[in-house]
Amino acid sequence: MRVALGADHAGFEMKQVFKERLREKGVQVLDYGTSCCESVDYPDIALPVARAVATGEADRGVLICGTGIGMSIAANKVRGVRAALCHDVFSARVTREHNDANVLCMGARVIGPGLALEILETWLGTGFSGGRHVSRVKKVTQLDDLRDQ
Ligand code: RB5
Repeated sequence: MRVALGADHAGFEMKQVFKERLREKGVQVLDYGTSCCESVDYPDIALPVARAVATGEADRGVLICGTGIGMSIAANKVRGVRAALCHDVFSARVTREHNDANVLCMGARVIGPGLALEILETWLGTGFSGGRHVSRVKKVTQLDDLRDQ
């Protein structure tokens, strides 16, 4: 699995923790920055990560900012991206099963690294349930066309 990873200055440290854990697990990490604690604008990171997922360069994307909110708003502007903001393990599991979320967003100022790692691993390890959720996800995808009109 290839995971595109990105964070702004608020999420930088957590991104480094994620990167290490993912590499330990043999996951290929594509790091889109930021590369230090200097202030950056979260949309500038969300866009390349979301594009990597939308084009298939990465299988999944993970974005971290202070709250995770800015990253999720920005990532969801990219066609084909279903970004989910999760701060609990239940949501992380269900957003994979029901929404087939392909980008996970978290806030490093909201939760600590222990819980964040558990959420990350749950999210990466859970598959889409399919079934009744297929047509719902399809309808979500169709909203991309509606927005462009
Ligand atoms: C940066 O201060 C902060 O606004 C950003 O990390 C994020 O929380 C935005 O949604």
